[in-house]
Amino acid sequence: MTRIALITGATSGIGREFVNLLKDDPSYDELWIVGRNERALEEASDGRIIPIKADLADPSSTDRIIARIRSANITVGLLANCAGLGYRSAVADQSSDMISSMLDVNAKALTLLTNGCLPYMEDGSSKIINIASSAGFLPQPGFAVYAASKSYVISFGRALAEELKPRRITVTTVCPGPVETGFQEVATQGREREFTGLWKTLSVKPADVARASLKASSRGRSVLVYGFSQKLLHFAAKFIPHKWILSVIKW
Ligand SMILES: NC(=O)c1ccc[n+]([C@@H]2O[C@H](COP(=O)([O-])OP(=O)(O)OC[C@H]3O[C@@H](n4cnc5c(N)ncnc54)[C@H](OP(=O)(O)O)[C@@H]3O)[C@@H](O)[C@H]2O)c1
Repeated sequence: MTRIALITGATSGIGREFVNLLKDDPSYDELWIVGRNERALEEASDGRIIPIKADLADPSSTDRIIARIRSANITVGLLANCAGLGYRSAVADQSSDMISSMLDVNAKALTLLTNGCLPYMEDGSSKIINIASSAGFLPQPGFAVYAASKSYVISFGRALAEELKPRRITVTTVCPGPVETGFQEVATQGREREFTGLWKTLSVKPADVARASLKASSRGRSVLVYGFSQKLLHFAAKFIPHKWILSVIKW
């Protein structure tokens, strides 16, 4: 039976690095790559890399992907939920479309794809990797919806990891800080092409995040907080009142 890796957000950034790292991996017969950017999908596709054009903010998209899996009679060896976006602005300044797209792509599509893939996963070997964010560790004024959506991904992933233990399907939730991808340009609606100041100093390469995610998944880790600065933030968010951390961040 054909064994696939299904990768969302595969047209850019971290997801694209997953594709680069897995394209010659003999564990998968095919990589099914999901995104909206038709050109990037076509450029990446070859005999083993199958492009799936889908807008994950569209509620029917996940049903279409699952229907395709069902009819192809395949096994999902890896589901890597990398698609995601965030808009940096106050909630009051965001349109309902901006808010919906963050919630739909970051949380709803990730959950529905996971749910839809589970019947096609193999006990003892299939894996799920969800890209969350260190933004999910605590509330973030000015990035409130995004941070809350990533808190959801962290909570969902940790609970799912426990649920799937009897099937020995591992769920790895990855929490990076700033990563050098197209994310910041979307987040600032084109105002900044990349991170600046402290965020730039702390930022890491998408290939390193993808590599560490696959390693953590192969070791069966349920949470990967990537980078020393993010580990510190994670520790602080657990033990220091959020009100204090938020005042420091604001300062
Ligand atoms: N970069 C960071 O600083 C950072 C930090 C922590 C966590 N993360 C998380 O890492 C993940 C990957 O982001 P990235 O940094 O690699 O950013 P990116 O380069 O902007 O990539 C985002 C990916 O998500 C896909 N996507 C966005 N909206 C979509 C939609 N409506 N339908 C289908 N696909 C959609 C994009 O594909 P199309 O454009 O082709 O649709 C693209 O492939 C996200 O979940 C993000 O929240 C990023």
